[in-house]
Amino acid sequence: MDKKFYITTPIYYPSDNLHIGHAYCTVAADAMARYKRLQGFDVMFLTGTDEHGQKIERKAAEAGVTPKEYVDKIVAGVKDLWKLMEISNDRFIRTTDDYHEKAVADIFTKLYEKGDIYKSEYEGWYCSPCESFWTELQLKDGKCPDCGRPVEKAKEESYFFRLSKYQDRLVKLYEENPDFISPPSRMNEMLNNFIRPGLEDLCVSRTSIKWGIQVPFDPKHVVYVWLDALTNYITALGYGSEDDSAFRKYWPADVHLVGKEIVRFHTIIWPAILMALDLPLPKKVFGHGWLLMNGGKMSKSKGNVVDPVVLVKRYGVDAIRYFLLREVPFGSDGTFSNEALISRINSDLANDLGNLVSRTVSMGEKYFGGSIVGEMRAEPIDDELRALAAEVVDSYEKNMEEMLFSAALSDIWRLLGRGNKYIDETMPWVLAKEEENLPRLRAVLYNLCEILRVVAILIQPVMDKTANEIFIQLGIYENEQFTSYGSARTFGVCGGFNVNKTINLFPRIDLEKELAELEALAPAPEQPKEEQPEELLPEITIDDFAKVDLRVAQILDVEEVKKSDKLLKLTVQVGDETRTVVSGIKPWYNKDKLLGRKVVLVANLKPAKLRGIESQGMILAADNGPDDVRVLMLDGDVESGSKVR
Ligand code: MSP
Repeated sequence: MDKKFYITTPIYYPSDNLHIGHAYCTVAADAMARYKRLQGFDVMFLTGTDEHGQKIERKAAEAGVTPKEYVDKIVAGVKDLWKLMEISNDRFIRTTDDYHEKAVADIFTKLYEKGDIYKSEYEGWYCSPCESFWTELQLKDGKCPDCGRPVEKAKEESYFFRLSKYQDRLVKLYEENPDFISPPSRMNEMLNNFIRPGLEDLCVSRTSIKWGIQVPFDPKHVVYVWLDALTNYITALGYGSEDDSAFRKYWPADVHLVGKEIVRFHTIIWPAILMALDLPLPKKVFGHGWLLMNGGKMSKSKGNVVDPVVLVKRYGVDAIRYFLLREVPFGSDGTFSNEALISRINSDLANDLGNLVSRTVSMGEKYFGGSIVGEMRAEPIDDELRALAAEVVDSYEKNMEEMLFSAALSDIWRLLGRGNKYIDETMPWVLAKEEENLPRLRAVLYNLCEILRVVAILIQPVMDKTANEIFIQLGIYENEQFTSYGSARTFGVCGGFNVNKTINLFPRIDLEKELAELEALAPAPEQPKEEQPEELLPEITIDDFAKVDLRVAQILDVEEVKKSDKLLKLTVQVGDETRTVVSGIKPWYNKDKLLGRKVVLVANLKPAKLRGIESQGMILAADNGPDDVRVLMLDGDVESGSKVR
């Protein structure tokens, strides 16, 4: 078979705090993999876990176990979760797997020998929770641009990957393949925020971490986690091992599905590594949005139940999978709430889908003892139904190809909506009253069964269990001829149905009662931690203090720094000199409050660039609690430039 499809999810950090947001990407990838399998593709669907790095090292130490013991336990839970969510991955890679570790070490050596990795010294900003290095320019208000947390200055001997060398080839890749990044807006983000300002070589080893893959020719270094993690997409297929048949068969990937915050790694660093290895590039990277809660990132402590295990147990896996893919257009951010979930279950699953199945099957049993032989009796309304079914399949397919799951599902629901309306219009209970109308009644029920057959075929990638249940109730379960994907296009192909009612697919849920029960189940919202007074720094001498040149400065002008929530650009007078100072006080101060005021400036601080503006010094301010800042202003009239001691 030459139709192959290789799809991946990100490999997850082992976390004992997996929430429904984590399941989002994997469910989407699974739906895509199942869709392609239905279409007859030979699919390779990969997921796994990203197990090295400082964060794991720290957490294991806190738990008093080795990093390997720590990850082993959690990975077992991740695998259980995917089983529960009916994830049909073909392979599961752990970055602690032997074959992966060996292949990464070999890749590192190969790139070093080729000259694409070289040894130097790293100095920059490091965000430890994200395990990312940032340049001064990339920081957002002096903090990590991804997570907004403080960064620390890091300096150490390191190996570097010549990312800068691939800048032009990356631009060309984007230009020649406008579909390489989806949605397209994310491509502009990459070009404007990262590539055009100039790519710097990437630090790809650390000496301060032990839990990682050793650089084989310099073992005090371990390989940077992102280099280690990204290569999983090829090592999982046997790249660099004795048996690389899967790699030869499936690479390049058709799509890497990733969350929007890690698009950068997948569309800049990863293609550059592949270019350096002379390997073909993935065809597409799709950056999906986040599932948010109450306007913020998801967490287990905000009063909603977000534990996928609890949700699946209460509502069934299909309802959860449906909700994840239906509620939010793939690519955008969306909101999760228990209320939205239950409302969707009630309206889409219980009312639209469940009702159509149950009404059709019950009437089939009641009027014809379950046997509904094929009869189309094409009246205009039937033709319309058939035309709509064909149009829905087309549109569904187009949307699925683009991974627009929500749109694809709403296509199916258009057909369901039409089916329910068709019952109201044809009024089978009226037809049943007259013997002579029985052929028409049979045709109506047959058409309804056909709708359900097509619907069941199309929902398979998202709701496999439900699809099978519908096939069972229609009496065509495992009948390849009428359940194959191709047969969705031939409305009326089925000779007849033997309907039989089994279960009620989606019973309605009492919203109020359910919400109250869920509230009782949800973890209590986290209490804000009591502020700990900051500890005093170690003692210094008067000579140490004398090194800091504090001066009185008068504020002459105040401007906002573009695209920054925190920064103001101040023009200050220090004696005869005029200086520019960038200060993170915008949330608390405006021009009115500052103009003409005299403040205290650290005048001999090494200049630093903030948002591309050179700040020549720093003005002093006091932290007044966690979210308030007060600038030190002078009492009385003091000459600018005066020394402060
Ligand atoms: N280990 C890296 C990926 C390496 S891939 C070579 C990583 N792991 S992660 O566990 O933090 O995130 C895995 C995926 O889950 C990311 O794509 C991330 O966007 C996604 N999500 C985590 N929380 C999410 C939501 N609340 N909503 C949607 N997706 C979310 O990053």
